[in-house]
Amino acid sequence: MSLPFNIAIDGHSSCGKSTIAKAVASKYGMRYIDTGAMYRAVTLYCMRNNIINDKKVDLSVLISKLDEITINFVFNAETKGSETILNGENVEQIIRGFEVSDNVSIVAQIQQVREKLIASQQEIGREGNVVMDGRDIGTKVFPDAKLKLFVTASSEIRAQRRYDELKKKGEKVTFEEVLGNLTQRDDHDTNRKINPLVQAKDAILIDNSDLTIQKQNALIDELITTKLSE
Ligand code: DC
Repeated sequence: MSLPFNIAIDGHSSCGKSTIAKAVASKYGMRYIDTGAMYRAVTLYCMRNNIINDKKVDLSVLISKLDEITINFVFNAETKGSETILNGENVEQIIRGFEVSDNVSIVAQIQQVREKLIASQQEIGREGNVVMDGRDIGTKVFPDAKLKLFVTASSEIRAQRRYDELKKKGEKVTFEEVLGNLTQRDDHDTNRKINPLVQAKDAILIDNSDLTIQKQNALIDELITTKLSE
């Protein structure tokens, strides 16, 4: 089965958007695009090329290099997950690390970066059957998406989930650092001038602070079934 429309999923950092998107993609045979991974890949490029130092971006250098940044996704049949490729290199692991997380919201507020990534996201979604998650999918990337979700959870719960994930990967980080980083990213994401994180008027709010993944999936299945019958 494939869906004749795109699904836009927006929400705060570490609220489980990608868990929802992956489940929907796998159930309905849709293509899943994690747009946060694209901003993370550009951030990694900046870090590796000395374009970002002490949280300051050399804007003119970044703009001159934007055409040299190519981001693709490959499907890993073993993990059944999509992985991010930056200029031919699989960077899926490194872009999830704390250092990239700590710098990404600075890169994500640069207009030229957003324009480049949004254009490529819209191109990917042209044919439909795409589930995309991010911060501005329902408002800017696919303003006409038939189903829009806005996902959130309390900051403590989100930080705990992220902390557990990072610990599993062996990262040396404290809960307070993770919570601090998350709060800072929420602040950047919601208060930046360009494409801030806001709930689209026609998006359905899902607060999963006290929701099991099973209940959440059932709720979303119901929403998709309703949209399909409209
Ligand atoms: O979803 P994530 O935490 O991997 O996203 C990483 C950063 O990228 C986050 O700070 C917000 C930003 N982002 C954005 O500004 N717009 C998007 N569509 C996706 C992510």
